[in-house]
Amino acid sequence: MSQVPVQLTEIAARTDHALAEVFGDERARWAALDPALDIPLGDLEDFVAGGGKRLRPAYVHWGFVTGGGDPESDIQLAGCCAVELLQAFALVHDDVMDGSPTRRGHPTVWAKFIERHRDGGWQGEDRRFGEAAAILVGDIAIVMADRQLTGATTAVRKIWDALRTELNMGQYLDVIGTATGEITAEGARLIMKHKTAGYTIVRPLQIGAALAGRPELADALAAHGMPLGIAFQLRDDMLGAFGDSAKTGKPVGDDLREGKPTVLLAKARGTASATQLEVLDRVGQPHLSDHDVSAIQQVMVDTGSVAASERETNQLLGDAISAIESLPDHNGSQSALRALADFVVERDT
Ligand code: IPE
Ligand code: MN
Ligand code: MN
Repeated sequence: MSQVPVQLTEIAARTDHALAEVFGDERARWAALDPALDIPLGDLEDFVAGGGKRLRPAYVHWGFVTGGGDPESDIQLAGCCAVELLQAFALVHDDVMDGSPTRRGHPTVWAKFIERHRDGGWQGEDRRFGEAAAILVGDIAIVMADRQLTGATTAVRKIWDALRTELNMGQYLDVIGTATGEITAEGARLIMKHKTAGYTIVRPLQIGAALAGRPELADALAAHGMPLGIAFQLRDDMLGAFGDSAKTGKPVGDDLREGKPTVLLAKARGTASATQLEVLDRVGQPHLSDHDVSAIQQVMVDTGSVAASERETNQLLGDAISAIESLPDHNGSQSALRALADFVVERDT
C-alpha cells in the first residue's frame, strides 16, 4: 500500500482530537440524563474513532490552505469534523441499506443492535430493532455534523447543503440501480459523481476554500476533485469486486453479492457474449459461492472491462493532477494535493 502522506496524517490527528472533545461533551450530557443513551453515542464514537482514513477532513483542510487560510488555524477544524461526522452518518445508514454485517473489520451498528436485542431476549423483531437503532445513530451523526457548521457563512452553508443533498440522491440512484439491476455505464457514472466524487473530494475542498473566504475557487477545485473522485470510485469498485478482505475489512466479492451498480459491471455487460452474460446474471445473488465470484471476476477480465477501468482510472488521475497547476499554491498546498491524489487512487484499503 502506498504510504499515508503526512499531509493526511497531521490533519487527521487534529481532527480526531477535536472529535474526541465533541463526543466527550455529547456523551457526558446525555449519559447524565439516562445512561442508556450512552450506548448509541458510544457506538457512534467507536465507529468514528475505530477507523477511516480521514480523507474528507484532509480535503477540507487543503481546500482551506489553497484558499490562503493559515494551516495552523483552528477555523477549518469545524469543517473537518463536520465531513467526518457526515461520513459516519452516511456509512451507518449505508450498512442498513446494503445489509452489510461488517465494516472496517468490525460488526456494523445495526448488527451490534441486533445482537443486543437477541442477548436481552427483547420483544419484537430483532432486525427491525437493529435497523431502527442504526437509523437513529446515523441521524444523531448528521445532526452533530450540522451543528459544526451552524455559525458558518452562507457560502459555506450552500456547499454543505449541496453535499448533503447530492449524497442522498446518489444513494437513491444506487439502491434503485441495485434493485432493478438495470444499470448503464452512464447511470453508474452519475452515481459515482454524486455519491462519491462530490462528497469525498469536490465538496470538502470547496468547503475548505469557502471557510478561507475564497468560495470563487469552487470551479477550479472541482476541475481537480471531480476526475480524482471518479478515479477513487473506480478503484473502490475494483476493490469491491476483486479486493482482499484482509485489507478492505469486507468480504471478497461483496459488491457482486450485493449487485452494486458499477461501471465495471455495466461495461462487462455491454460487451459480454451470451454465455458470459449468463455468468454476469448471477451478480446480485446474496449467496454467491467463491466459485461464482471467481467466474464473474473472470468475465470482467475477459470482456476487457477491468483493463478499460484501469485505463480510465489512470487517465482521470492524470487530468486531476494537471488541474492542480491552475490552483493557487499556498504553504505547500499544490504538493499536498498531489500527494493526496496518489494516495487516493493507489490505496488498497
Ligand atoms: C457507501 O457506498 C458510501 C456512501 C456513499 C454512503 P457503498 O455502499 O458503495 O460502499 P461501501 O462498500 O459500503 O463502503
Ligand atoms: Mn455499502
Ligand atoms: Mn451502498
